Amino acid sequence: MNRDIVCIGAGYIGGPTMAVIAAKNPDRRVVVVDIDKKRIAAWNSKNYALPIYEPGLVDVVKKVRGKNLFFSTDVRKAVRECDIVFVGVNTPTKMFGRGAGRASDLQYWEATARNIAKWANRGKIVVEKSTLPVRTAAAMSAILNTHDKFRFQVLSNPEFLAEGTAIRDLLEPDRVLIGGPSDEAGEEAVRALIDVYAGKDGCWVPRERILTTNVWSAELTKLAANAFLAQRVSSINAIAGLCEATGADVDEVARVIGADRRIGPRFLKAGPGFGGSCFKKDVLNLVYLCESFGLHTAAEYWTQVIKMNDHQQERIVSRLFKEMFNTLANKKIAMFGFAFKADTGDTRETPAGYVARLLCEEHVKLSVTDPKAIENGRRDLADIDGVAWERDPYAAAKDADAVLLMTDWAEYATLDWERIYRSMRKPALVFDTRNCLDAAALRKTGFKVLNVGK
Ligand code: NAD
Ligand code: UGA
Repeated sequence: MNRDIVCIGAGYIGGPTMAVIAAKNPDRRVVVVDIDKKRIAAWNSKNYALPIYEPGLVDVVKKVRGKNLFFSTDVRKAVRECDIVFVGVNTPTKMFGRGAGRASDLQYWEATARNIAKWANRGKIVVEKSTLPVRTAAAMSAILNTHDKFRFQVLSNPEFLAEGTAIRDLLEPDRVLIGGPSDEAGEEAVRALIDVYAGKDGCWVPRERILTTNVWSAELTKLAANAFLAQRVSSINAIAGLCEATGADVDEVARVIGADRRIGPRFLKAGPGFGGSCFKKDVLNLVYLCESFGLHTAAEYWTQVIKMNDHQQERIVSRLFKEMFNTLANKKIAMFGFAFKADTGDTRETPAGYVARLLCEEHVKLSVTDPKAIENGRRDLADIDGVAWERDPYAAAKDADAVLLMTDWAEYATLDWERIYRSMRKPALVFDTRNCLDAAALRKTGFKVLNVGK
């Protein structure tokens, strides 16, 4: 019993997570469903033109698709046939009504809960994979358990993978978190989910890395974990401005701060600020929760993490403006990288998008290049004129006054920068907002170089 799995939502979370669950549980049938027909068709495409780019994902999907991993739009059938339902639908920031701009929009999630209740032909374990406000499981349980025949156990199992390293993070997670009720049925459900993560014959996550808590702690931990990570990025970016003003070097400062074992070296890289679908959304959600419980000072504290992040992107444009003789109108700027980080095509909340809009307000002729994010970027900026998209970075930089590097794609460090310099208008500027290029070599070539925090 409690064997077959369905995941509702075939996005950045549902697809990779279920592919790895299927690979590690060859004796379970795993079905990923979505209402988005185009997305499901891409997951099923013969040539593996999957809807998201993630290193290593295609290899895992090739091993299991059609064997014990299936993608389908028939949500009803999949829900009826399974024992464990993961819910991985989107929970974006609500843009209307009460809590607009901060609270989570739970309409997709609630529609899913109601569908499960409507279609179930037996009791099931329902697993929250989406990131949700604390106490959402109580609402889900209330909706599901209106059923007169069957009982449902609701568990919280937030996902901690990062895009770009999703497959590695799933194969070797620091921890898996399962929040469940402490009664007998709840504990049985938790054990069933632990079995999934243990994998066939214990081939996957070691038991000591599977942490169990009560449901509310699990829900809150996910928001808190993202808020802590986002806060570290804002903290180092707050120091970066001070470095620029004083002659200190933020990478040196970060290296030494991070050598303290109590702090650790990760998430101390100054840059254009954090992007991605979750940091901003989850911090805003935390702010909303704090406010709802009357914790206004805590709400203000977390709000500053977002303010600092927005400020970092405005500062990039201000520095370009100043460095380019206080006028950007009709100048060509080549933006290298549009994805919110390297190794993904995802552009949700990308700092590059915000900076691109500010530059277009200054009437810049913007030419954007990215190895994986051109399609998403084109869609994001469809409402503004004056943006050209180039697959080839050399073409993007031709006749430009400046190169503005926004994403730390490894390949940018290996470009022929002398060739780029020759093709640009002089004086030629490189603003490396990720501090990932060899600034000394660029200066030697003739470039004026700007960095963040230096
Ligand atoms: P996504 O938008 O890529 O995917 C969500 C999918 O759910 C979409 O394809 C959508 O069509 C589908 N969906 C919506 N309503 C549905 C319904 N009623 N029935 C069937 N399908 C439905 O989002 P994502 O990035 O995968 O994020 C999903 C959740 O996971 C969010 O709560 C997010 O906070 C959380 N999360 C995401 C990441 C990440 O790296 N992207 C990491 C950890 C947690
Ligand atoms: C983040 C978390 O790292 C995951 O644990 C979490 O599961 C996920 O959010 C989520 O809930 O969606 P992700 O947004 O995919 O993952 O990527 P990160 O590696 O965390 O990077 C986020 C942003 O911060 C990127 O724009 C990145 O460039 C930036 N960043 C990160 C920095 O500017 N400096 C750093 O030192 C680290």
